Amino acid sequence: MTQEELFKKLIAHCKEYGFVFQSSEIYDGLSAVYDYGQNGVELKNNIRRYWWEAMTRLNENIVGIDAAIFMHPQTWVASGHVGAFNDPLIDNKDSKKRYRADVLIEDWMAKLEEKINKEVDKAAKRFGESFDEGMYRQTNPRVLEYQNKINEVNSRMVQALDANDLAEVKKIIEDCEIACPISGTRNWTDVRQFNLMFDTKMGSVSDDASTIYLRPETAQGIFVNYLNVQKTGRMKLPFGIAQVGKAFRNEIVARQFIFRMREFEQMEMQFFVRPGEEMKWYEYWMEKRMRWHKALGLGDQKYRFHKHEKLAHYANAASDIEFQFPFGFKEVEGIHSRTDFDLSNHQKHSGKKLQYFDPENNESYVPYVVETSIGLDRTFLLILSSAYNEEKITKEDGTVDERVVLKIPPALAPVKLAVLPLVKKDGLPEKARKIMDELKFDFACQYEEKDTIGKRYRRHDAIGTPFCITIDHQSLEDDTVTIRYRDTMEQERVPASRLREIMEEKVSMRKLLMNI
Ligand code: GAP
Repeated sequence: MTQEELFKKLIAHCKEYGFVFQSSEIYDGLSAVYDYGQNGVELKNNIRRYWWEAMTRLNENIVGIDAAIFMHPQTWVASGHVGAFNDPLIDNKDSKKRYRADVLIEDWMAKLEEKINKEVDKAAKRFGESFDEGMYRQTNPRVLEYQNKINEVNSRMVQALDANDLAEVKKIIEDCEIACPISGTRNWTDVRQFNLMFDTKMGSVSDDASTIYLRPETAQGIFVNYLNVQKTGRMKLPFGIAQVGKAFRNEIVARQFIFRMREFEQMEMQFFVRPGEEMKWYEYWMEKRMRWHKALGLGDQKYRFHKHEKLAHYANAASDIEFQFPFGFKEVEGIHSRTDFDLSNHQKHSGKKLQYFDPENNESYVPYVVETSIGLDRTFLLILSSAYNEEKITKEDGTVDERVVLKIPPALAPVKLAVLPLVKKDGLPEKARKIMDELKFDFACQYEEKDTIGKRYRRHDAIGTPFCITIDHQSLEDDTVTIRYRDTMEQERVPASRLREIMEEKVSMRKLLMNI
């Protein structure tokens, strides 16, 4: 199965098992907006909790807030979003389709990359075990030709975007002979900048003064509250403020399911530090955030850092943590050294002093900020795409069965335990209910008695339930039950009285947090 096929199957699975639905589906959906279903919301809540507790509980100098989505419109002038939160767009005059100009160029480069990979695959087959991929990439003339083209176009694009030279961006598209995927023509308009913020009106008078924006990042709610928190919480530098909440961007290239949405959720932490110490803390948070990711146990090789060449308007250093999604390595989290850009600008635009008084050296100054910013929805997709497995199982009678199993880290699974009476009679449901009634206060449990036990196991494999507790006739005699393990499908008989203690050890968030 190719990665593309796997991704399509994952999307279908998300819908079939109540993880993610297209928003307003009965009206044919709303592009790049999604709803989380009964299992999706539980997984999302658990990821959020894992992040929140890692930030606010494990760090004595980090506290949380929950700021409003609507903010004073001047916020976005000060933050630079009104002036600079733009994408370069280009329209094809024949198809009337609009594209992000940089994405058209990136897609063109990705096609060359694909050609290189095909050459490499062919050579690997031809040469067998003696194949030296590194050497081949460095010496094969065709591969080198493709690679040189990619490098040249990439550096032209970075320079043009840095200099906001939109004519040059168009020229690159023309030079690369990029055609519209819909019309197939190269009949392009000029490239224009397009602001990504959604605006709306507040109040009853619809004039310009009442235009406000849906926040494109949660960070600004933290910046404007930093002195409130510092003073009321008597916080001393360095300290952090964490927040989880919705953000909105009018993304033009909205694709890859919940990877790029117009309404999404961010988990951001702003860490306020002494000016001059920001690089030390930037390195610190890069390492610490990577540890948080790897503690999930999805495979260390699936993560990598990507250092930004082109920096956002507010940053003096920035790196992404990228994850290997089915469609390649992509950003899931950004760690940015934002200098004092935001606080200084809010100070200027609001006319209010946002300085911190440092009692250690009797000085007042505007702190510098290192931010960690992770997409909750992208983390959700990351976990599901690595959890999705199709397995063939040879049964006792020799026939082969198939199952789809979501190997979600147990502490994050939507349902932790399924409580299943083997049959719907002989007092087994009553016994199972009793067990369920004891466990439900500690764990997300589901009771099921319909269908054969095999079908019920499969249903729970498909939503990632790590443990199925089966109550059989022996349970009535000796008060034991079986635990069936999702990943190995092994079964273990244990006293029902020990279930709580056993499960606590296996599904607790505590264990996950201790791995960081
Ligand atoms: N405050 C900094 C900031 O917003 P960003 O790199 O634009 O930085 C941070 O966004 C994270 O938010 C990204 O790494 C990604 O996980 C998530 N994110 C950004 N845009 C998104 C979108 N359109 N859909 C889903 N997640 C998105």
